[in-house]
Amino acid sequence: MKVLLTGGAGYIGSHIAVELYSAGHTAVIADNFVNSSPEAVARIEQITGRRIPLYEIDVCDKTALSELFEKERPDAVVHLAGLKAVGESVAKPLLYYRNNIDSTLSLLEVMAEYGCEKLIFSSSATVYGAPKTLPITEEAEAGGCTNPYGWTKYMIERIIEGAAAANPKLSAVLLRYFNPVGAHSSGLIGERPNGIPNNLMPYICKVAGGELAQLSVFGNDYNTHDGTGVRDYIHVVDLAKGHVAALGYCSDHTGTEIFNLGTGTGYSVLDMVKAFERANGVPVAYRITPRRPGDIDACYADPAKAEKLLGWKAELNLDDMCRDSWNWQKNSSDGKKA
Ligand code: UD1
Repeated sequence: MKVLLTGGAGYIGSHIAVELYSAGHTAVIADNFVNSSPEAVARIEQITGRRIPLYEIDVCDKTALSELFEKERPDAVVHLAGLKAVGESVAKPLLYYRNNIDSTLSLLEVMAEYGCEKLIFSSSATVYGAPKTLPITEEAEAGGCTNPYGWTKYMIERIIEGAAAANPKLSAVLLRYFNPVGAHSSGLIGERPNGIPNNLMPYICKVAGGELAQLSVFGNDYNTHDGTGVRDYIHVVDLAKGHVAALGYCSDHTGTEIFNLGTGTGYSVLDMVKAFERANGVPVAYRITPRRPGDIDACYADPAKAEKLLGWKAELNLDDMCRDSWNWQKNSSDGKKA
């Protein structure tokens, strides 16, 4: 299948592109490089040995998107384009709603125009808000998000569900990611946050690499085994493979289906620090600081549905996540922006 990746030059999209080629598919990338760079696409081409059609467009721009569809006629779309910084979304909510929702509406309209009927959406476990029970199944109540970024994910899910309900030919899969970390084993692609990272693993990498002095562990009084926050970290290559599996599912189902993409195991912040030190033999200086507003005690997936219906489960372990994150950090601190 020829698969359009909106936001395909980003952290997750670039890994999906690689896994699509491994599975015998091809990719087309649309990206406005607001949080990524064309260098990432060059790196994907280096890994796959294939030339990838690249369109520098904003997915909100329906005319530009129609031109892409006219030329490429993709069989399916993985929709990853969107703004994703939680803190920024609180400061600029309208920007987040306008950008993330407009782009999805443009995409759905153009897909309908061109008869493209397979859609995979990059959603997030953030839609579960503060979970009432653990592990989190897809039946858990969604909504109650703590920030506009989370609400855009929740609203887009509902918009896609509505579109699929109205068009019996549309097949939509909503993938709720837990905490993606790690990088491709080549060290050529990985996560490149703008400025000081907000997320744990990129921060740990920068402390280990000497770019930041120490990690602030946000609170040690949570209701968890060591008091620090527990999350379900999943290797980005496993996550990418989950999209390839979802593509197969789209081919013989219609309607909307929701899947958690996580490992099912939760690790605390201190577990992550220790695992990183152990896997890579480098120290990570840290200090305990007050809680970060909006954080929850623990969040981890029940990934059984994805295993049952998609035949997918995460295979890489915590050591792989730590090793590959560090390998990418070392390779990418040379000033090249990928
Ligand atoms: C956050 C977002 C989520 C988003 C995800 C992307 C919130 C409430 N959630 O999830 O919507 O989809 O990022 O991956 O913001 N931590 C530290 N020190 C740090 C950074 C993090 O102790 O410098 C801790 C946090 O308190 C948390 C854990 O590490 O317990 C993971 O944090 P993070 O990587 O930011 O992810 P989430 O908050 O789970």
